[in-house]
Amino acid sequence: MSGTDLDFDLGGRRALVTGAGAGVGAGIADQLASAGVHVVVNDIDPDRAGAVADRIVGAGGTSSTAVFDVTDHDAVRAAVAATGPIDVLVNNAGNAGVEGFGRLVDFVDTTPADWNAFMSVNVHGVLNCTHAVLPSMIERGWGRVITIISDSARSGGSRMAVYGAAKAAAAGLTRGIAGEVGRHGITVNNIALGTIRTEATESLWSGTDNAELQRQILSGYPIRRPGEPADVAWVTAMLASPRASWITGQTIPVNGGFSQAL
Ligand SMILES: NC(=O)c1ccc[n+]([C@@H]2O[C@H](COP(=O)([O-])OP(=O)(O)OC[C@H]3O[C@@H](n4cnc5c(N)ncnc54)[C@H](O)[C@@H]3O)[C@@H](O)[C@H]2O)c1
Repeated sequence: MSGTDLDFDLGGRRALVTGAGAGVGAGIADQLASAGVHVVVNDIDPDRAGAVADRIVGAGGTSSTAVFDVTDHDAVRAAVAATGPIDVLVNNAGNAGVEGFGRLVDFVDTTPADWNAFMSVNVHGVLNCTHAVLPSMIERGWGRVITIISDSARSGGSRMAVYGAAKAAAAGLTRGIAGEVGRHGITVNNIALGTIRTEATESLWSGTDNAELQRQILSGYPIRRPGEPADVAWVTAMLASPRASWITGQTIPVNGGFSQAL
C-alpha cells in the first residue's frame, strides 16, 4: 500500500520535520508530503535537506527547506518566522551519541561533553522548536506536535543512560505541554522507537561480521527485524491527522513489540 492510499485528511497543512535530511525524518517527510502536506524539510546539512525536498517535489508534492541547527535557539526562531505558520511539528532531529552509535560507552566513561551533546539535540532541540511554533498554533486554534523518542527513555539500556535520560526528558516535556494546549485544539504526543534501520544504525545491519550481535538485538523483538523509517512515518501521519484529535499526551511505541519485554 502506498502513502496515497491512506486518506489522512491532511491536505493543505504545513509541517516542519526536523532532521529530515535522512533516516526516520526523511521517511516522515515523504509520507506527510504524499498525504498532501507542504513539508518544510529541516536539517543541519543543506545538501541533505535539499535532496529530500527535491525528491518530494519530483514526486508531485510541495516542499521547501529550512537549514538550521535545532540546538541554536535564535536560528530556530528566525527560521520558523521565515517559514510561515506551521500546523504540524515533528521533533525528529536527535542523536545517539557524540559520534553516533559509535560513541556508546558506560556512564562512568562518559564526559560532560558527551552529556551536553545528548541533551542539546534531544532536549534543547525539542524545547527550541516547540516553543517557536506553539504561539501561532494557539492563535489559529489547531496544531500537532510529535516528538520522536526512544524505548530507552523507559527501558534504560546499557551504555545508553544519558541518551535515555535525554529522551525521557523530552517525553516529560511534551506530556506537560499537552496539558496546557489541549484547549486550543493542539495535540502533543511522542513516538517511542525501537531500533530502526537508518544511517545511524546501518553499521549494525550491513555485513556479516555482526551476525551474533544482530541475533542478540533482534531476540528482544517479537517481530524479528529492525524497523524501517516507513514503519514510523505512517504512525506520524496518523497522529498528525485531524482524526487523531482525541489522542494527546501519549507515547506510542513503534518497536516491533520490544515493549513486551519492558
Ligand atoms: N535509528 C534508530 O534505531 C533510532 C531508535 C530510537 C530513536 N531514534 C530517534 O529517531 C530520530 C531519527 O534518528 P535516525 O536514525 O533517522 O538518525 P540519522 O542520524 O539517520 O538522521 C538524523 C538527521 O538529523 C540531522 N541532524 C542531526 N543533528 C541535527 C541538528 N542539531 N539540527 C538539525 N538536524 C540535525 C542529521 O544531519 C541527519 O540528517 C532521532 O531522534 C533518534 O534519536 C532512532
